[in-house]
Amino acid sequence: MKFSEKLIALLKSDPSVTVLTGAGVSAESGVETFRGENGLWRKFKPEELASVDAFLSNPELVWEWYGYRKNLICDIQPNPGHYSISEMERIFTSFYLITQNVDGLHKRAGNSRPIELHGNIMRNRCTGCDKQFENIEFSGEIDQIPTCDSCSEMLRPDVVWFGEMLPKDALEESEIAISNSDVFFSIGTSAVVQPAATMPVWAKNNGAYLVEINPEETPLTTYADEVINGKSGVILPELLREIKE
Ligand code: OAD
Repeated sequence: MKFSEKLIALLKSDPSVTVLTGAGVSAESGVETFRGENGLWRKFKPEELASVDAFLSNPELVWEWYGYRKNLICDIQPNPGHYSISEMERIFTSFYLITQNVDGLHKRAGNSRPIELHGNIMRNRCTGCDKQFENIEFSGEIDQIPTCDSCSEMLRPDVVWFGEMLPKDALEESEIAISNSDVFFSIGTSAVVQPAATMPVWAKNNGAYLVEINPEETPLTTYADEVINGKSGVILPELLREIKE
């Protein structure tokens, strides 16, 4: 049996459930993870692409890189893992989704209000006044870096870069989710980037039953109450079948 009787019984009792996701959840849709064998951070240097300094010294390169990733994401679809997490929102009376992913696939799969810890790649915001913009395109010319229609400063991707604070609202909403959790799932994340990496630990210390779903071990594995070794697009539909029986 892949799942413990304890987990199935717990989930059948309509507990408060929180799911934390990372890049692994989108891997089966064709989005590259960051730290795997072919991970993005093996091919590109984060400090040259995902930091304020990188943006200020070469905004064109940063716009091009995010444009490339945005195009990849537009061409792909949510996978059965995303759809299962969206179904969980309808199954459990109290359900929270916290994601580190910027790809927007949870929303496309039907989750109504994912807490986006690291922002969203489809959105931009002004470096001057923080005004948000949707679906801005970049022509590839340095003098065409999109600017704000209110204050004329440069626009940037609305994602969290290295060295930046996470959005305050997302952190506050995550705290509420964690403190309410009876069951906390950590799915498809290497659990090394803070503060997301510590969220499962907070939840467990607060009394939640901690479940990890990942084909690989992570720093969280020894700490989890239950570890389900495998791909989220396979495991999650199986789990839902069992709890609906
Ligand atoms: P990582 O690339 O660090 O980790 C991806 C995890 O997904 C690994 O533990 C894999 O074993 C696992 N995985 C791979 N395929 C999977 C599958 N089909 N099903 C389930 N799990 C699978 O990605 P994150 O943990 O999301 O931040 O990385 C965290 C943050 O680091 C990202 O949000 C990004 C990055 O730098 C920023 O850009 C701010």
